[in-house]
Amino acid sequence: MARVTQELPLMCLMLLLLCRDLGVGAQAGQGFSLQQPQDKVMVAAGETLTLNCTTSGIAGPGPVKWLKGWGSGNKIIYDQKGDFLPSVTKAVVESNTDFTIHIRNVQPEDMGTYYCVKYVKADTGVDEVSHRGRGTEVSVQAKPSPLLVSGPRQRARPGQSVPFVCTTGGFFPEKIGVKWFKNKDPMVAQLPQVTEWRMKTYNMSSTVMVTLQKDDVRLQLICEVRHSTLPAPLRGRFQLSSVLRVPPSVEVRAEPSPIEVNNTVVFTCLVKEFYPAKVSISWLENGIEIKAENVSRLSELPQGLFELRSQVEVQVMEEKNGSTITCMVVHDAQAPANYSAVLWISNTAQDVSHMNKGVNFVSSLLLLLWLGILLEKGLLGGLLFFLFKRMKRKALEMLPYPAPPQSLAH
Ligand SMILES: *[C@@H]1O[C@H](CO)[C@@H](O)[C@H](O)[C@H]1NC(C)=O
Ligand SMILES: *[C@@H]1O[C@H](CO)[C@@H](O)[C@H](O)[C@H]1NC(C)=O
Repeated sequence: MARVTQELPLMCLMLLLLCRDLGVGAQAGQGFSLQQPQDKVMVAAGETLTLNCTTSGIAGPGPVKWLKGWGSGNKIIYDQKGDFLPSVTKAVVESNTDFTIHIRNVQPEDMGTYYCVKYVKADTGVDEVSHRGRGTEVSVQAKPSPLLVSGPRQRARPGQSVPFVCTTGGFFPEKIGVKWFKNKDPMVAQLPQVTEWRMKTYNMSSTVMVTLQKDDVRLQLICEVRHSTLPAPLRGRFQLSSVLRVPPSVEVRAEPSPIEVNNTVVFTCLVKEFYPAKVSISWLENGIEIKAENVSRLSELPQGLFELRSQVEVQVMEEKNGSTITCMVVHDAQAPANYSAVLWISNTAQDVSHMNKGVNFVSSLLLLLWLGILLEKGLLGGLLFFLFKRMKRKALEMLPYPAPPQSLAH
């Protein structure tokens, strides 16, 4: 009996509490209040979010729950009765006044306003809202994903203007900065496009137009992104060599010059300044393939372009005069390009000999003429001399003998 008397007051107290609760109806206990102190919480994606909620005063029957959103679209995150998400834990498990919860591995889709709510059992047996916290606005800061820089699908030639695109996604907040560089030089780009994507995160796409140049082989484009969640800017790189095609400039030379019969002439095909290094050279003589004698090693020029030379030797026979020697270049699976030279056999050698003979002939003619003149002059001189002499003698003969001087007679 002593045991009963001991337990009676406790039972009375319980009854009393029960009666009082019933009397109050669908209301929490008197002096009950609920505190949800956080207005806004910012958390990085992947981290644990802590939402604070405490109650004071005496609570009536009915659970405390955490809801995400308010109104029709709300979702129960935590229910005191034990029905909640696996990522959610109660901070102080035993407490009846502290309903602070932790949410592990927060993702951008967890963004929203969270409410701590006290329910009471209504007469109908359904839980009704009795007290609601002010709501905590949760924003999840998400880092932009690694940058993706893409260029044109096909290689382009120098002088062509082609777009390059830098993209990233899944970041929050929306504000993001993008810059482009060609090696170290800043470039002018279009304004980046930022679009909302899946539950409050953003995607960004930025386009820059680049006019390719011959010496861009070693250059890279850099897309640089700054965001509040990043301790250092993100960088995405693109090697221009992967989209550049520099067609070769080709030169065909014949040596030695002039080409003379019975000599060997070497045709050189100089394939200069091309990229990429894929090139094939073949030789044709009047459209028929001939074998290259000597193909140089591919050489790389300082700016990253390549150079190659191929040679063929042709034995010069008179019947080959006017033959077309063609260097056919196929670069990077493009259409073949032909560069030709015509084998003109020079007859300068013969010309020179003709000319020499001519000169000899002319000079001997001149000599003869000169001799002739000399001879003529000599003869004329001789004749004149002879005539003069003769005339002189005749004149003497014709003269009468001079009379002896008179004085001599004395
Ligand atoms: C070229 O060679 C052929 C045969 O060896 C010879 O008959 C001909 O005279 C040569 N021609 C010249 C211009 O040297
Ligand atoms: C080769 O042909 C050219 C043009 O027809 C001509 O001028 C030249 O004299 C020719 N050479 C020989 C060695 O026949």
